[in-house]
This record gives sequence, C-alpha cells and structure tokens, in this order.
Amino acid sequence: MTLLDVAFAHPQGLAGRLGAMIMARFTKQRNLWTISLLDLQPGDHILEVGFGPGVLIQELATRVPEGFIAGVDASPLMVKQATRRNKESIQRKHVSLREGSALTLPFEDNLFDLTLSANSVHIWPDQLTGVKEMYRVLKKGGRIALVVQPVWAKTDQEVKDVGADLLTWLRNAGFQQTRLEFKTMKPIASVCALGIK
Ligand SMILES: C[S@@+](CC[C@H](N)C(=O)[O-])C[C@H]1O[C@@H](n2cnc3c(N)ncnc32)[C@H](O)[C@@H]1O
Repeated sequence: MTLLDVAFAHPQGLAGRLGAMIMARFTKQRNLWTISLLDLQPGDHILEVGFGPGVLIQELATRVPEGFIAGVDASPLMVKQATRRNKESIQRKHVSLREGSALTLPFEDNLFDLTLSANSVHIWPDQLTGVKEMYRVLKKGGRIALVVQPVWAKTDQEVKDVGADLLTWLRNAGFQQTRLEFKTMKPIASVCALGIK
C-alpha cells in the first residue's frame, strides 16, 4: 500500500491518524453541501458507509434529532476516532458506529430512509456490489447520495466523468430518478449522485 492508501483509503497507524486530522479539518464545505442535497427529515434513519473520522456523522446527528444514524467503516482506527468524536450521541443510542465492509453491510433489508457515502465508494473493491448493498438496506422510496471530491482530478470534466460512473452504479443497482449535482470548491470540485429506491 502507498502512503496515501494508509493515510486516506485504508487509514491505519501514524499516517492514518494524520489522514484523519486532514479529513476532519478540510471536509466541512463538502459535508455542508452534501447535507443541503439530502432533504433531511427529523426522524430519518440514516446509514453512512465509510465515515472516516466521523465528522459528517456528527453533522447529521445535530440535524436529525428524532432519527437514528448508523455508520460502517472498514478501518478499526476510523471506528475508534469516530466513536470518540460522537461519544455522547452513541451513549444516547442516537448514533451507532461499527467496523464492517460496504460489500456486506451488517443490516437487514429495508431498514433505512437514507444511505450515503462520502469520498469512499471509489476505494471499495467492487463498487456495484456496495451500491447494491445500500439499495438492499434502504426502505422502498428511500434515498441514496454518493459524494466524491476526487482530489486526483485536474479538471472539472474529470470530476464530471467520476459522476458519470456514480450514476451508472446507481442505475445498475436499481435506483430510480437518478441525478447528478456538481459543486465548485477548493482544491477541486465535488460531485454527488442521488437516487430513490
Ligand atoms: C478517504 S476516507 C473518507 C472519509 C470520510 N467519509 C470523509 O469524507 O472524510 C475513506 C473511508 O472509507 C473507508 N473504506 C474504505 N474501503 C471501505 C470498504 N470496503 N467498506 C467500508 N469502508 C471503507 C476507509 O476506512 C476510510 O475511512
């Protein structure tokens, strides 16, 4: 694995701690934009896949006071850090975080109103399997949002190409009313694919 892998894609050790500090510090604009697209309802049951240091989980918890937020991440280090960051909400059973894979989500069918993932789907070993898992755990009529801010991209067109892949995975997994949103931001734009089960 490269240094970037152990810092961001599969955070572990010292590099993972440093990566988590960067992710926690520099994702606010993307997280707030993502939230603006989610049509959040106070009682929503939400699942975030690949939550990293748990900053978006924390933002969601403040906006869905009567709901429930679950999270799955493959990195034990990120589960530990996000658990620390969301300690009070976890104690109140408003948030529940666990280690697990996007490819085999540890939940029964038809459970959530909303599933989302931010800057994680491109890392999974099999994107379509993961997106199908998100479909499976959503209730009928539930929403999905897949956000990517591809820091490796050099142009807006490259970001839009990433968005086209996200849309393909959503459609192939069975989602309806799929659409893309695009937002210019630093250091590179973000793209979000949305759909309904
Ligand atoms: C680049 S970080 C993004 C973290 C956070 N969502 C953000 O936007 O800052 C990618 C995260 O996806 C997680 N991840 C990678 N592969 C995964 C998989 N197969 N299943 C679940 N999580 C995974 C990593 O552990 C890491 O926390």
